[in-house]
Amino acid sequence: MERIAVCPGSFDPVTLGHLDIITRASKLFDRVIVLVSKNIMKKGESFTPQERKEMIQCVTKDLQNVAVDISDGLLANYVKEAGAIAIVKGLRAVSDFEYEFQMALANRKLYEGAETVFLTTTAENMYLSSSVVKQIAAFGGDISHFVPPEILGVIEKRLIKER
Ligand code: PNS
Repeated sequence: MERIAVCPGSFDPVTLGHLDIITRASKLFDRVIVLVSKNIMKKGESFTPQERKEMIQCVTKDLQNVAVDISDGLLANYVKEAGAIAIVKGLRAVSDFEYEFQMALANRKLYEGAETVFLTTTAENMYLSSSVVKQIAAFGGDISHFVPPEILGVIEKRLIKER
């Protein structure tokens, strides 16, 4: 049986931290579906779901067992329909923990067939997030250390336009 994992997130935009988690997940599972999902707590989106999907496709093109999809529904339903056995999330600091723990428990209540698996971030990505990237870009700072080089131009263009 193929062991499928879903790696959900807002990815607005995808960062080197996300890419690290996706790459490591691709070594643990037969197939990884990166799922561009809706986080109702986050307002002020910079990229459309389709744009985020295309950026992730661009930076994961060399990972043969990684696919990218979009969902605007419940993660648990998607995971069940995809036949996935795991939800993979990255954990940075302790501050991520309570929220991620809550989501893991809720998802388990909604669908028992998949485990949430947390991969710890690497030290250099510890304080990295899409919001940090947006903040730095908004003030004209250099984001080249935080996002994959292939999509740096597209991200800068959009975020600078938003300033
Ligand atoms: O990158 P994020 O914003 O931390 O990811 C959060 C995300 C998108 C994975 C979460 O909000 C989510 O799962 N959204 C889909 C809708 C859903 O199932 N919500 C209930 C989660 S318990």
